Amino acid sequence: FLPQDLKGLNFLVTAGPTWEPWDEVRVLTSRSSGKMGYAVARAARDRGARVTLISGPTGLLPPPGVEFVRVTTALEMKEAVEQHFEQADVLVMAAAVSDYRPRERVAGKIKKGPERLTLELERNPDILEELGKKKGKRLLVGFAAEAGDVVDKARAKLEAKNLDLVVANDITQEGAGFGSDTNIVTVLFADGRQVQLPRLDKLTCAHRLIDLVAKMVRKDD
Ligand code: C5P
Repeated sequence: FLPQDLKGLNFLVTAGPTWEPWDEVRVLTSRSSGKMGYAVARAARDRGARVTLISGPTGLLPPPGVEFVRVTTALEMKEAVEQHFEQADVLVMAAAVSDYRPRERVAGKIKKGPERLTLELERNPDILEELGKKKGKRLLVGFAAEAGDVVDKARAKLEAKNLDLVVANDITQEGAGFGSDTNIVTVLFADGRQVQLPRLDKLTCAHRLIDLVAKMVRKDD
């Protein structure tokens, strides 16, 4: 039996990559299976939270008992997140949002032609950073997938985005990479604390993260 320690709380979770189309066939994307975010959504649901999962394109089935919103692009994800942000007590941003989108989206399919083709990219908004500026009493959890100097880079992100917690993982480490069923994470807190978790399957990892989140939410009550 799981503790129902999230009863009465609204969780907003994002997961998966975004797809940024440059014509009607091709997209620019990031390598993300969505497994970690879906695991967080399941774990929160199983502990009594009301969960909204906003997901980019993945091969995963929506977890039952969770409000599921399917999006494609970063701009769609931003809109969906903003719609649900007001009611959220905890936001867990596990999505690998594309930092750039093609400036133009060509109708139809671009034909094979010249040896070189230049794609002009435009910055996407940083969804989490914008929410960090107006988070109020909400708890904001970000993810940071990094290669090298993981903890330093993750702490910089925590500060830049005004997060309460950041979940850092080293994508070059065996058992923590893309599509893996396990993860090895370091959790960093705004007050400087740091918790290293061992290699765990993603659902167990999600429960351990939620243990930490639950403690913080209760403390604020
Ligand atoms: O891409 P970056 O490493 O900065 O991502 C860190 C956190 O910010 C993640 O939680 C990710 O979901 C979020 N993010 C976002 N919007 C972006 C880029 C990242 O919300 N455009």
